[in-house]
Amino acid sequence: MAAGLAAGKGGLMNAMSHSSMGQAVSMAPALDVNTLAQFVDLLPLPPIAKPQGSRPSPADAKLSVPFYRIQAQAVTSKVHRDLPPTEFWSFGSSTPGPTFETRSGEPLLVEWVNALPHQHFLPVDHTIHGAEPDKPTVRTVVHMHGAKAGPESDGYPDDWIVPGKSALYYYPNQQDAAMLWYHDHAIGINRLNVYAGLFGTFLIRDGVEDALNLPKGKYELPLLLYDRLLTRDGQLLYPVSPDPKSPWVPEISGNAILVNGKLFPYLEVEPRKYRFRVLNASNSRFYHLSLTESPSHSSTTGAQTKELEFHQIGTDQGLLPAPVPLTTLEIAPAERADLVVDFSEYRGTHLVLKNDAFVVMQFRVSSAKAADSSALPRELVPVPKIPESQAVQTRLLTLNEYVNKAGNPVMLLLNGMHWGEPITEKPVLGSTEIWTLINPTNDSHPIHLHLVRFQILDRQSYVPWLFQTKRQLQFLGPAQPPEPNEAGWKDTVRADPHMVTRIIVPFTGFTGRYVWHCHILEHEDNEMMRPYEVVAG
Ligand code: C2O
Ligand code: CU
Ligand code: CU
Repeated sequence: MAAGLAAGKGGLMNAMSHSSMGQAVSMAPALDVNTLAQFVDLLPLPPIAKPQGSRPSPADAKLSVPFYRIQAQAVTSKVHRDLPPTEFWSFGSSTPGPTFETRSGEPLLVEWVNALPHQHFLPVDHTIHGAEPDKPTVRTVVHMHGAKAGPESDGYPDDWIVPGKSALYYYPNQQDAAMLWYHDHAIGINRLNVYAGLFGTFLIRDGVEDALNLPKGKYELPLLLYDRLLTRDGQLLYPVSPDPKSPWVPEISGNAILVNGKLFPYLEVEPRKYRFRVLNASNSRFYHLSLTESPSHSSTTGAQTKELEFHQIGTDQGLLPAPVPLTTLEIAPAERADLVVDFSEYRGTHLVLKNDAFVVMQFRVSSAKAADSSALPRELVPVPKIPESQAVQTRLLTLNEYVNKAGNPVMLLLNGMHWGEPITEKPVLGSTEIWTLINPTNDSHPIHLHLVRFQILDRQSYVPWLFQTKRQLQFLGPAQPPEPNEAGWKDTVRADPHMVTRIIVPFTGFTGRYVWHCHILEHEDNEMMRPYEVVAG
């Protein structure tokens, strides 16, 4: 999964889509990103969403809550100084969409408007469930990833709306400080709509976070990472399979990694602490991020690429118990990492953020001294471990990949079941369950549950064929606890290949129908997604 950055190796003439199973398709001429100047564009920041007045709360008509109106529309945006503007679809006039700044316990309303064109500009596969020829090709529904919202406001994949329509969603924000993100979730075309640019972030803050005195204001920045396959004229390419009737591909790998919408941006920083809210908004790429000194600024030997230390202070659903020192951050699709980077020792130097060996962006540390009264506290927020004894139910759930005679994936399922089959997972509101994710495939699948936050119990390698033939779980080696930077509240978990991954999940908030799925959007669309229902006790 998520192989090296193809065009980063240079000399690439055609865009190639390499699946893990060896499928390769060439298409329109792709951009060779090595021909572009690096660090000529300033890192942009998404605008902050502004409410348009207030409206009565659907929960209590006597209360009025901020009302936002956000429109999905076609936009153009320059991803690089030397490329023509790229066509995207976005929420609002910028891409990525605006950042919501909200506080825990302060609800708000959003009217999500579909003002998209009537034709899709990316290859819709009409053989995929929910995208049949009789369905409108342009549909959108917005899901707030990580939010505890009622089922009618969660963005159920079948609740899509067509151009000219809108949907009013209510977000109670009764949850801890965290960076959530909103994105399209329309059944069968989710991968295309998110790839087109339909996403943005949603910050919830609270008093616990405030009291920690973390870097804030202009010293706290979102870094939204997403790879795209760009043509030589800077337009989005979405790869297709060799079968024109069924263009779906099992994963994609772009030649350009965008940060907040720019390719190879730079950011001028002061020699002090910064807080970076990192989101992996890619369809299927996993990142391995590190910070190094630029070669021109390293020692005279030139070969020095020492990885610098930074701290992860939070994960998907909020702050970790304590900062975790890292030199490499692994981040799967849909995961968030809250980082503190201290530039104080790098006055007057240039640092680069890399994904594996490939440059993503540059930090230019100014040489003037900077005051810094912010803190990197030794302890952040307690995350008490949920005892396994609290679980009233353990579900064994398999992740399945199906291949054709040529060995190419044709479909993926959860527990061998299609999206449209009856609901089989019905946790009781207020109860805690253990979900045991059994992964016999060769891929890591980032599994996400809507509505809830959970803790990772462990990962353990096992013998796949014994489970497949006899439903016998034979483990190989000890159970591994979550990585220190996963030891907080999560909403997305890597289910690694040939491993059993266990999570413990309190089902609180609302009853109703939600979904769980793999967040590799190509998998999710083709049908690695299932409904589940929280039922009253
Ligand atoms: Cu990020 Cu079902 O979503
Ligand atoms: Cu979600
Ligand atoms: Cu997957």
